[in-house]
Amino acid sequence: MPNISFPNNFIWGVAASAYQIEGAWNEDGKGVSIWDTFVHTPGKIVNGETGDVAIDHYHRYKEDIALMAELGLRHYRFSTAWTRLLPNGTGQVNPKGVAFYDRLIDTLLKHNIEPYLCLFHWDLPQTLQDQGGWPKRETAYAFADYARLVTKHFGDRLNVIFTHNEPWVAAFAGHFFGEHAPGQKDLGAALRAQHHILLSHGLAAEAIRAEAKHPIKIGITLNLTPVYPASDSKKDQEAAARVDAIMNRIVLDPLLKGTTPMLEFKVIKPFLGNLIQPGDLEKIRTLDILGVNYYSRAVIKHSSKIPIVNVEQVHPEGNEYSGMWEIFPEGLYALLTRIQNDYLAPREDAAPTLMVTENGVPVPDGLDFDGRVRDERRIRYLKNHLFQVHRAIQDGVPVKGYFHWSFMDNFEWALGYGQRFGLVYVDYKTQKRTVKDSGRWFARVMEENGLEV
Ligand code: FCB
Repeated sequence: MPNISFPNNFIWGVAASAYQIEGAWNEDGKGVSIWDTFVHTPGKIVNGETGDVAIDHYHRYKEDIALMAELGLRHYRFSTAWTRLLPNGTGQVNPKGVAFYDRLIDTLLKHNIEPYLCLFHWDLPQTLQDQGGWPKRETAYAFADYARLVTKHFGDRLNVIFTHNEPWVAAFAGHFFGEHAPGQKDLGAALRAQHHILLSHGLAAEAIRAEAKHPIKIGITLNLTPVYPASDSKKDQEAAARVDAIMNRIVLDPLLKGTTPMLEFKVIKPFLGNLIQPGDLEKIRTLDILGVNYYSRAVIKHSSKIPIVNVEQVHPEGNEYSGMWEIFPEGLYALLTRIQNDYLAPREDAAPTLMVTENGVPVPDGLDFDGRVRDERRIRYLKNHLFQVHRAIQDGVPVKGYFHWSFMDNFEWALGYGQRFGLVYVDYKTQKRTVKDSGRWFARVMEENGLEV
């Protein structure tokens, strides 16, 4: 019997993205994306791994969706690959790409699984990159056309469209840290990309609303990271505030307040030029669903390690770590309550619906002798994080849903296949799927709408 219960109609789901699962990178008329280019560039991905085949979801979507249904899933957040639909980003539509997402959506609906379609999970068409990519304003307009096309073809079967997944990661991991496609290391490019991605959200929202025959909710999913100073010193506290501005407020403020912290910092101003044009911020501030992706916190000290912003991330001892991050469940509570207090509660107009759209943990799972995957660490992680979501709800934060990242193990970007996030284990040689203990456990949580902690 569960001892914590979630509100009625709480939305349980799982999430995934096109590049990480589909494979079939050059089949049926698909164009090349910046991730196709990036993974084929030596030295970019651990062990030279690629998403060329990934977990072959393009060919196995039927059995994958059947497995979702078997576990009782009712909501699935996935992304469409822009280059499957528009191989060059604009212009010629690829009918086989349209047919694939038609089949995918119809199969979901047949199994009573509601599609939460996301337009952009980082796989920008290479043709648009060659014309300047996100640092160029034109890309935002191309994105709005793509959004219109998706609405035209699939909108009749959608109630929700997410424009972007983690715009900060697309801008900064892709253009400042260079760890993601397109692999640039240029703060100016990152800031321009950041602004244009957000602008494209606003333009796409307009396009979707104009094209849709019934109301479609517009969402976005943000990677948000509660930031803690490494010490009580004033310098560390100011360093933490700078990181909060450049990681969290840089996306939250425009989307929810119509302002931007970019204009607050003397060191950043020289990079901006006429980037933010009159009317842009008003366009960006439109949202029906705010999706929060939470994995960990950041502990920050003042340092010259990351220049210009003068900060460094430190990794405190004492907590458990996963393959990628410190495990810090309280951070999810801190984040949700902060969003409520700083952004949702003060609004005079309707606040967007708040959901956790990603949360999960990479741990080195494996098949035991009897073929089972006993991923107790993932179950513990989920229990602790769901407890914090529940705690936030108890304290008045209107969290309406929770999506686990991810349904199946998949291609974890620059880290390749080494980091497993799935509720379902994938043997990458045979493509055999095995539901992990956590998958059965999560199925029970969804069914009981609660859990024992
Ligand atoms: C998020 C991404 C998702 C996945 C998880 C682990 O940042 O949205 O694609 O890589 O992290």
